[in-house]
Amino acid sequence: MRDPVFQALVERRRSEGLEDSFCVQCHSAICARGGACDPGFAFDALPDIALEGVTCESCHKVGELVRPFNAGFTLDGGGPIRGPSPVPPESPYHATEHGAHLEKSDFCASCHDVVEPSGLVLERPFLEWLESPAFPEQTCQSCHMPSYTGSATPWGPERELHRHTFTGVDLPLEGDIEDPAVLAMLDAQIEALLDGAASVELSLPEQAVAGAELDIGVRVTNHIAGHAFPTGSTFMRQVWIELEVRDVHQALVYVTGGLDAAGDLCDRWSTLAPNTDPDLVVIGSTLLDEQGQPELFSWRAHGHESNALAPMSARDYRFSPHMPGGLEGPLTITARLHFRALPPFLLRELGLDELVDLAVVRDLDSDVVLLPVSEG
Ligand code: HEC
Ligand code: HEC
Ligand code: HEC
Ligand code: HEC
Repeated sequence: MRDPVFQALVERRRSEGLEDSFCVQCHSAICARGGACDPGFAFDALPDIALEGVTCESCHKVGELVRPFNAGFTLDGGGPIRGPSPVPPESPYHATEHGAHLEKSDFCASCHDVVEPSGLVLERPFLEWLESPAFPEQTCQSCHMPSYTGSATPWGPERELHRHTFTGVDLPLEGDIEDPAVLAMLDAQIEALLDGAASVELSLPEQAVAGAELDIGVRVTNHIAGHAFPTGSTFMRQVWIELEVRDVHQALVYVTGGLDAAGDLCDRWSTLAPNTDPDLVVIGSTLLDEQGQPELFSWRAHGHESNALAPMSARDYRFSPHMPGGLEGPLTITARLHFRALPPFLLRELGLDELVDLAVVRDLDSDVVLLPVSEG
């Protein structure tokens, strides 16, 4: 709720005449259900409890699950705190009750599968999970809330607990976490989650021929059993292949997936070098307008096209750059798989230029091959 990107998007949506409380129902169920986020609300007038966003109570006071998307739960504000223990420990501070739904993927689905009021499906990790090899044994919780031993309160017994860091791909942008140690911890958790999530592998002929096309295969594999890669807000995220060919002097012979001087990929959204990278491979999803052209904002979109990788699946991409005559080998061929939570052009479009430096590019995996060159 304090995330400047979230607030800017809600304001933009509102400025285009759309109902503004839609976005808040999952980002702050308490605000939406408590009436503070009724249509026309102002972020800077909200009480702290509304700005806290996805808090303990928005999960632990869920009464029943109604549907697996769009905040599909009842929130029992005056009711007990529900937890996963079949025999809930007693608390002198609040009533406790068993909430069997807390251990189910359906619970996460109620906020993580997002459907625009137009009916356009924006996010669908739960639907992906239902068709994945992880279903039904490995739930969202088994991967995103790993268990450990500890006590939930200073006086409580030692027992099995579950991590509540909900590590994903984005660092908090709102700036109220200034402690570098906390940011470093979050960063390390993101790296650990992404480590091994996806890989990239080159396949090449025995040698390159000067003056001819070089046939480069790049295989990208999703090693996550539980959902597609990427998943969630795929239309904002960027996963892409950077492929470089360098000669014996390390001079660049070919590149795709590089960034322009403003930090953007050279696709249609680049302001400095639009559409100058014809071979670019971006893996994720694209919102589409009525004419089928890429659209930035979900509320304007009529279509949503995804090329995300299904769980535990691989896809081969082929590149055929022309190798100049007189080329000196061996060539160094490098493929890298990159991930970025938010692209700079989107931040600038929202007037948030100061956040561009926080949109770090992560290296998921890379592969390097040295290739001899023969005279054509
Ligand atoms: C088998 C383990 C596994 C299961 C099961 C699983 N996840 Fe994930 N999830 C991952 C990994 C690894 C990543 C990091 C790679 C990525 O971002 O795609 C991830 C990433 C995510 C992200 C961040 C995506 C982004 O780019 O913003 C969300 C949100 C998420 N998972 C939600 C869920 C939900 C909801 C479920 C249950 C329906 C679930 N996950 C089940 C392993 C799992
Ligand atoms: C996004 C939803 C969500 C939020 C927010 C959340 N919890 Fe939980 N919590 C869960 C789920 C789900 C479980 C059960 C995990 C399982 O059993 O696999 C759980 C379990 C627990 C447990 C039982 C012990 C354990 O670790 O399994 C305690 C205690 C708890 N949460 C306290 C809190 C407190 C305090 C907060 C706020 C600081 C909080 N939770 C915020 C979803 C949430
Ligand atoms: C009440 C709504 C709600 C529920 C229930 C909920 N989430 Fe979330 N979750 C959110 C919202 C909203 C965000 C995005 C917060 C942000 O980045 O500003 C989020 C973020 C996340 C992220 C981080 C994504 C990223 O890209 O950094 C993960 C992982 C995650 N949730 C996992 C889960 C799992 C697992 C469950 C079920 C145990 C769950 N959530 C239940 C609302 C919810
Ligand atoms: C059905 C619940 C739901 C609704 C409705 C919803 N969101 Fe989200 N939103 C989420 C969840 C869950 C995530 C985390 C998923 C992930 O990271 O992949 C998220 C992530 C985001 C993020 C990424 C945060 C980051 O730091 O990277 C932004 C921005 C965002 N939502 C904005 C919006 C806007 C704007 C709307 C209204 C058009 C909206 N959301 C409506 C559940 C919802």
